[in-house]
Amino acid sequence: MVPDRDLPAEVRAAFRQALGAEPAGLYRAPGRVNLIGEHTDYNEGFVLPMAIDRAVVVAAAPRTDRQVRLLAVDVEDQVAAFALDGLQPDPRARWANYVRGVLALLERAGHRLPGLDLAYAGDVPIGAGLSSSAAVEVAVATAANQLLGLGLRPLELARLSQQAEHEFAGTQCGLMDQLISAAGVEGHALLIDFQSITWQPVPLPADKAIVVCDTGKRRGLADSAYNERRAQCEEGARRLGVPSLRALDVASFEDRALELPPLLRRRVRHVVHENARTRRAAEALRAGDPALFGRLMNESHASLRDLYEVSSEELDLMAALAQAQPGCWGARMTGGGFGGCAVALVDRDALDAFLPAVAGGYERQAQRRPALYVCRASAGAGPVAQR
Ligand code: GLA
Repeated sequence: MVPDRDLPAEVRAAFRQALGAEPAGLYRAPGRVNLIGEHTDYNEGFVLPMAIDRAVVVAAAPRTDRQVRLLAVDVEDQVAAFALDGLQPDPRARWANYVRGVLALLERAGHRLPGLDLAYAGDVPIGAGLSSSAAVEVAVATAANQLLGLGLRPLELARLSQQAEHEFAGTQCGLMDQLISAAGVEGHALLIDFQSITWQPVPLPADKAIVVCDTGKRRGLADSAYNERRAQCEEGARRLGVPSLRALDVASFEDRALELPPLLRRRVRHVVHENARTRRAAEALRAGDPALFGRLMNESHASLRDLYEVSSEELDLMAALAQAQPGCWGARMTGGGFGGCAVALVDRDALDAFLPAVAGGYERQAQRRPALYVCRASAGAGPVAQR
């Protein structure tokens, strides 16, 4: 199921029509799927995401009057116009806040921008947990960086995109989504360590497919639950007297687990074990051991469901259906949770049976049509090759 839109052609045409000129450049930033390591990034832990072959594409041109004109092709060709001075979130046009946020943060970092015309479109499903908002942020940051020669590296682009999300969209997200969108490597997942903030590409096996299974259930109330989980982790670390949950390995935590009340104990146990699973999973990939990798995915799902309590009926059903298919090594919910997608590791030669079995089973039992995507690991943000 290859994305069928020609995003560069669409944004170029929309830019010309609405803004009356040719764009000076086109830039893209991908969405992501996380293979394992969930709710660990904001605890200085490990994650293993890959950038996917679905992205946001931005057409951009500089202006000289410190004004921004912004066209969202997918939001019914909505246009916003605003000045770079005194940028604030706009509660009446929330879709534009990711862009406002990125531009405000660039300015705060000392880059005085001349003004920009921007048009963007994307094929990362919105609200599905595949980081469509990070893709918008990183695409706009990349466009400004490259078009205006700001000299920012992927980590800096990711950091200011994350800060834009905190201040302009109100989610206290970690850095994973923006960093993988900025720094992804084709054909690889990245094992990212959020203590040192360093990463290593881990090659994905050519004979296995990464299948993203969208439950169709969107994430209502996810932001407040997310911020609450984050606060619980901080409280757990405080009570155990460690700077972050990363300081605890499985043995040292389990020795002290009873010091925590039951709810915090569940939350912290998930994070500590998930960090261990993620490192083992990266080793399993490198060692060509899909059976171990898949088992760790399944354990991660159970932990997110039972200990971290961020799964949903739909995600549990999807993961169970995927796990039950021949040629599927493992499956789990992915992203923040409460809705969105599961991810499965599947033998390529089993896909013809896997896809209809999971889609059909889910539709019958959930009374909702899912969307299944076989994803390729793509490169991080950059210019779109001009044809
Ligand atoms: C969301 C956040 C990420 C990360 C995941 C959970 O995607 O944006 O920073 O915390 O949830 O792993």
